[in-house]
Amino acid sequence: MMGMSRREFLLGSAATLAATSSTFAIAKSALSADLDLPLNYLRHEIMPGKITEQMMGFGTSGPAPTIRLKQHETKSIEVINNLHEASVVHWHGLRHENAMDGVPYLTQKPIELAERFRYNISSPDAGTFWYHPHCNTLEQMGRGMTGLLIVDEPEDVGFDHDLPLNIRDFRLGNDGQFVAMFKPRLAARGGTLGTVSTVNWKMQPTYDFAPSSLVRLRLAVTDVTRVGSYSVSGANAQVIALDSHPVPTPIVADDILLSPGQRADVALQMPALEGETAQLFLNTLAGPRLMATFRSVGTAQGRSLTELKPLPRNPVKEPDLANAEILDFTFGWTPDGAKPLQSICGSLGYVFWSINRKPWLGDTPGPLDPLATMKLGKSYILRLRNNTPNDHPIHLHGLAFKLLRSDKRRLPPLFTDTALLQSGETMDVALVADNPGDWAFHCHVIEHQKTGLTGYLRVEA
Ligand code: C2O
Ligand code: CU
Ligand code: CU
Repeated sequence: MMGMSRREFLLGSAATLAATSSTFAIAKSALSADLDLPLNYLRHEIMPGKITEQMMGFGTSGPAPTIRLKQHETKSIEVINNLHEASVVHWHGLRHENAMDGVPYLTQKPIELAERFRYNISSPDAGTFWYHPHCNTLEQMGRGMTGLLIVDEPEDVGFDHDLPLNIRDFRLGNDGQFVAMFKPRLAARGGTLGTVSTVNWKMQPTYDFAPSSLVRLRLAVTDVTRVGSYSVSGANAQVIALDSHPVPTPIVADDILLSPGQRADVALQMPALEGETAQLFLNTLAGPRLMATFRSVGTAQGRSLTELKPLPRNPVKEPDLANAEILDFTFGWTPDGAKPLQSICGSLGYVFWSINRKPWLGDTPGPLDPLATMKLGKSYILRLRNNTPNDHPIHLHGLAFKLLRSDKRRLPPLFTDTALLQSGETMDVALVADNPGDWAFHCHVIEHQKTGLTGYLRVEA
């Protein structure tokens, strides 16, 4: 025991090591995190009877684990990079500490092969969130790296079951293997769609629940491209939250428009009779596409949606509109002559888009100026102008903003972190800049993000 401190002794593992000066450091880093999250190459049966090779995922097999936190609780998550390339993990929608936000160069160095990074994540808001890489993002997300993150309300609101639904496409050929992640021609337009639609890495899965039990469906569109409308039919179903924030009054779960990055919490009352089903559909131009089935099996529970307690409001500050400064952002084509920058977080090799005429490919070393600097605690109106004929789901890290108005349609007065800016639309949103740091601000069609439609906003203390 010579040379060993009491602390090293108590940490146990040190006892087997030589008592050198580095022993303490080793023992300390061995303190385990709440969750280990290895990044791995995986194989999985997505299309029936075909094993897709060269998938990338969180964990050691199958779809990413759903991570759960309690509101205000901090959880440590140790990301262990076993990929042959760099990565970082971003926690989409969390209004947390900037240093934990997982954006390369802006908030941390990329995590390289065999390196680890410990994230301490927490959330002032309850609701449905998700996580994904922010490095070589099209490839890593495209090959599977998207997972749900659930922040539970302090008090149970009365559901019998909770079902995360990770909704996304994969770009697979008939043999079940990946085809090219994108087509440049489409990256300069609406983006490249997947070929196979999945829920939790399955095509048209079926979930069994007791008849007339209450299920909280957590829809999260983690796809890299697809903007779509979803409906739940065959049972009573109501949208109770959008993008993790409760809606003031529940809305019938029909024609729910969700773009990449967006979420909807749906309260489903299972059909009353054994064997009856409800379905989740994606509404496409060719008609409804079945995504998942919910089947009543077992003993009837006799529950009703009216028994649910309303979701508590999240502690988001109301912007002071009378004193808010207006900041303008124009989403458009890229000025001619912009060249793609190489970085260890990958480049698609093209520059097509820009914000305020400045293209940033994101995930590349700076220095690059923030698109705007906001003062801590002040209110701002962000005027988002879409100068293009394509849709752009505009996402801001670390802050929640409120939808104010659009020149094209009525907007519900909801808080969100991702707003779908439709073709040619101008939209005003407002926020209180209450979280200091450099916050990425980009389109969540990843091909747009990676070819110029990225920037960041600074909140200065
Ligand atoms: Cu969902 Cu910049 O992220
Ligand atoms: Cu995000
Ligand atoms: Cu876009």
